[in-house]
Amino acid sequence: MTDDSLSTHLDRATLEPDPAFTAQANGTQDMYAAAEADHEGFWAEQGRKYLTWAKDFDTTLDWSQAPFAQWFVGGELNVAYNCVDRHVEAGNGDRVAIHFEGDQGDTRTITYADLQREVNKVANALTELGVGKGDTVMIYMPMIPETVFTMLACARLGAIHSLVFGGFSAEALHTRINDAQAKIAVTTDGQWRRGKPAPLKAAVDEALEHADNTVEKVLVVKRTGTDVTWTEGRDIWWDDVVPGQSDEHTPEAFDSEHPLFILYTSGTTGKPKGIFHTSGGYLTQAAYTNAIVHDVHPETDVYWCTADVGWVTGHSYIVYGPLANGATQVLYEGTPDTPHQGRWWEIIEKYKVSIFYTAPTAIRTFMKWGHDIPDKFDLSSIRVLGSVGEPINPEAWLWYRKYIGSDKAPIVDTWWQTETGAIMISPLPGVTTLEPGSAQKPIPGISAEILDDEGNPFTEAEKVGYLVLTKPWPSMLRGIWGDPDRYRDTYWSRFGPKYYFAGDGAKYDERGNIWLLGRVDDVMNVSGHRLSTAEIESALVSHPKVAEAAVVGANDETTGQAPVAFVILRADAVSDGEDKDALSAELRGHVGKEIGPIAKPRNVMIVSELPKTRSGKIMRRLLKDVAEGRDIGDTTTLADSSVMNLIKETLGG
Ligand code: WTA
Repeated sequence: MTDDSLSTHLDRATLEPDPAFTAQANGTQDMYAAAEADHEGFWAEQGRKYLTWAKDFDTTLDWSQAPFAQWFVGGELNVAYNCVDRHVEAGNGDRVAIHFEGDQGDTRTITYADLQREVNKVANALTELGVGKGDTVMIYMPMIPETVFTMLACARLGAIHSLVFGGFSAEALHTRINDAQAKIAVTTDGQWRRGKPAPLKAAVDEALEHADNTVEKVLVVKRTGTDVTWTEGRDIWWDDVVPGQSDEHTPEAFDSEHPLFILYTSGTTGKPKGIFHTSGGYLTQAAYTNAIVHDVHPETDVYWCTADVGWVTGHSYIVYGPLANGATQVLYEGTPDTPHQGRWWEIIEKYKVSIFYTAPTAIRTFMKWGHDIPDKFDLSSIRVLGSVGEPINPEAWLWYRKYIGSDKAPIVDTWWQTETGAIMISPLPGVTTLEPGSAQKPIPGISAEILDDEGNPFTEAEKVGYLVLTKPWPSMLRGIWGDPDRYRDTYWSRFGPKYYFAGDGAKYDERGNIWLLGRVDDVMNVSGHRLSTAEIESALVSHPKVAEAAVVGANDETTGQAPVAFVILRADAVSDGEDKDALSAELRGHVGKEIGPIAKPRNVMIVSELPKTRSGKIMRRLLKDVAEGRDIGDTTTLADSSVMNLIKETLGG
């Protein structure tokens, strides 16, 4: 295992854009200056370049009701027409839109012409069930084509979809259904999980038992053959109402600011925030970023984003961005290790995937499994790699590039949020000289700054501050559903109404690149020094024996807070009889060496699992409970609730 030497042997010249790539890249250096010179003019150009408007807009941006923005005012469009019909009209009906790979090895090839027919049928069925413009449709479904059809059918009708990730509980579902006042729910009997069926509709049934239920009909796709309980008059099989519909449907044009979807995300308080997005601005930036950041060329690329469609990454970079661009993509229902740990690489080889977009947590898992697994597959088709969701530590970046990107594919580390709707900070492949571990700079049309505690912008290197966005952008959230005050308070008050406060810590490096340092609630203060959990985690993961690390700031009598680390070791790098105390000491020393003595974790706890949410985010709050010797709090949002017991057992608590 020589991965530990990746960073030491880094040849910086290889991080410069390859001229051959630059020659064909969608993004260009000139775009930065053009956007800087005329922000609205630049976005107006993208709006007209990437979308087909039924009625052109007259005002690019109306910011008079700030922080409530309106983009492309006066414009009218149909989002589904833009993602489907216009590609068929342009003669690309035979192009594959979706290569579907099912968990059970079943596959389905869906061309744009097929997609048009399927979306139309679902739109007609939903109309029959009483769904119209402005109604909310709750979607609780796995990664199957019907989910995409349903989302697009809603968009086609001007109905607002609200997806809830298939791993959420009935209670979470109820809160979200109720907040959005959903009229119809669409679900499946069950979902495949690591080769086994798990019930899905059952949670919907339970969620609808509440007295305040608003859902009138439940449309059920048969996916696993799982037994379901049936409520006559309310529940309807998809197969009874969709296949028989006409496959024609005339799309209506809606206002640019017509709501497209609500997506719930957790905030610092208990109640989830219903982030809502509208049509013209959202779709413009989703398509534009998919073109210039992922560098999608719809005629030749095969694109694959591994996110679940129930998260914002799935919305913007499985459904809306790539389909608006007419791209060909892979949709995969299963998990990375079923039926074997090379499953993803097998899929890349099979479809010759050229653009691959995934999350650092997945990359670190693959590092843990070892590169000999991807080495067995032909990954030479890959030409762009992307990362999203959390900071990617330089070691993982270099591993990703070397073993998945054949040591040449540019990696775009894309920073954005459910709230921003689309990518905001990222290198452009073919344009930017890459910096492993950094999201680098705002893309053309986006402006960000880093502020100190007093709210003053600064540019000094290595000083830690708060990331803010300084200009409205087309795909920005239009608010929190039903709660305008919370929108203002959460995002536009920390540093005054001029700045969108993202909630992330950030710093510049010597080269002027932006490094995202994790949520500011994950930033700790140790003896007056501000330290990022992400930075310490990155240091730990750069040690050859560490696969994954999570760090929390635990209360400490002398230093205020102290870093406490939880690490998972690399199976292939440690021996059975490894002395854990000695290794903990070694890791503390390693962090001391990488960042400085102040960053040395007070304790390094070696564990076999980390508590993660279903979206793969580490739940540091629970680790903090352990680190501070408290009873462990609410574990209901954990993907696997037994993890905390396992951790307590390992630590002898
Ligand atoms: C974090 C996911 C560092 C960040 C698209 C942000 C990142 C939160 C990155 C949003 C990145 C996302 N580098 N941190 N490239 N991408 N984040 O709403 O803390 O699920 O605020 O959106 O994830 O998470 P969300």
